[in-house]
Amino acid sequence: MGIVGLGNVGSSTLAILAENGDQIALKLGYRLKVVALCSRSVHSKKIPEGLGPVFKTTDWREVVTHPDVHVVAELVGGTSAAADLVNAAIENRKSVVTANKELMAACGPDIWDRAIQAGINLAMEASVCGGIPIHAVLREGISGDRIMAFYGILNGTCNYILTEMEKTGAPLAAILAEAQRLGYAEADPSADIDGFDARSKLVLLAALAFGERITPADIFMEGIRRITPLDFRYAHTLKHTIRLICGARKTPDGLILSVRPALLPSSTILAGVQGPYNAVWVKGQFGEDTFYYGWGAGHPTGVAVVSDLMRVAREIRGGSPERVSPFAHERLGENKPVSVTLQRRAYYLRFRVDDRPGIIAKLAGILANKNIGLEAVLQEPCETKHDLPFVITVEQTSEQSIRDAVEEMAKLDFMREAPLALPMETAL
Ligand SMILES: NC(=O)c1ccc[n+]([C@@H]2O[C@H](COP(=O)([O-])OP(=O)(O)OC[C@H]3O[C@@H](n4cnc5c(N)ncnc54)[C@H](OP(=O)(O)O)[C@@H]3O)[C@@H](O)[C@H]2O)c1
Repeated sequence: MGIVGLGNVGSSTLAILAENGDQIALKLGYRLKVVALCSRSVHSKKIPEGLGPVFKTTDWREVVTHPDVHVVAELVGGTSAAADLVNAAIENRKSVVTANKELMAACGPDIWDRAIQAGINLAMEASVCGGIPIHAVLREGISGDRIMAFYGILNGTCNYILTEMEKTGAPLAAILAEAQRLGYAEADPSADIDGFDARSKLVLLAALAFGERITPADIFMEGIRRITPLDFRYAHTLKHTIRLICGARKTPDGLILSVRPALLPSSTILAGVQGPYNAVWVKGQFGEDTFYYGWGAGHPTGVAVVSDLMRVAREIRGGSPERVSPFAHERLGENKPVSVTLQRRAYYLRFRVDDRPGIIAKLAGILANKNIGLEAVLQEPCETKHDLPFVITVEQTSEQSIRDAVEEMAKLDFMREAPLALPMETAL
């Protein structure tokens, strides 16, 4: 094995390989030997003693060309150096294990095609839901089923922020600062709270679940920046909660893919997912519902990498002549991604207005014009009449109709900001 990248994931991987080496050897029937290690600061890193002597370098090229390295673990991240090193590993006919969702979401189909042509093995379990073996589930465990839908909580940072907001009533900025202090959130939080990280993961899971070539552009994305403690209070009144949901659903029109905050009934299993945990709920045509739960990041990601190293080692020993990309080469058509505007849902609309008579009538008029049925109007007592929050829920309608209504409502002179529209998921 050659390991490139000794940060959070790389150091966990090394610790597990060192501490659990005997168990791993028993399970495999032979030892996994770490031959080479690489990071920019490798010479100042503490390497676990149990690994024995290893070649250390700051240049990943020396790992991918090392004659005794059969498998390269890419644990660097990003899409520049990581892409170069994965491509170079494949050119040098080294098998690859990667934890890099960003790279695989952007270039996964091409990397898999090249790996198959070169006759090497590739594994990427650690790229989505570190502690949950969801790739193995979709590629092996339930691969005989026809997946109809799955919904996931795939970003632990967002789930931590939302569930803390729910528990404490503190605003997003304060919780984010605390998450950064605890190491749950990056200094630049955009990849997490604007939905990019979750979208990369949804690309990979949707490809695995539906056998389609999914790209980030196929997915509607909205982050959690606009969610406030008030939204949780209204959601609770409606016996719901709010989570950042990564959804993939077959419809008669095609596959609808989205990453967005949504209201979930409090009684559902996904609503119970707290803190930095991840979860995936899958609905199969034949196998019905299955649910997967675990840590999304940190040390458990090391387990995923080590398990992938074992998988690839077994595949190399076994010869594995048939390698199939999880990203289909041809689209069957039935799972063609289509626009989220075709989705039909009930919606939660939250307004902040400069209070005056006739506001509800005006908003109800816009909804009626779009043929949207009003369900309920909720308003907590509030003293600030110039910034009055309230909520309207509406019956099932198309996302396009809601977007048209929100666009028209946003232009009204009493509106303090554009209305917040969240789908209400009932099918989970
Ligand atoms: N953190 C998690 O919990 C988690 C969970 C699931 C998946 N992942 C994925 O796992 C990957 C690694 O994440 P991480 O959190 O471990 O990152 P990290 O802590 O930032 O570690 C990155 C490592 O890569 C090394 N590196 C960067 N550029 C390099 C280069 N050009 N040549 C050699 N080494 C280089 C760094 O070296 P220096 O330390 O010497 O600078 C560092 O050791 C990413 O793709 C991430 O998305 C992470």
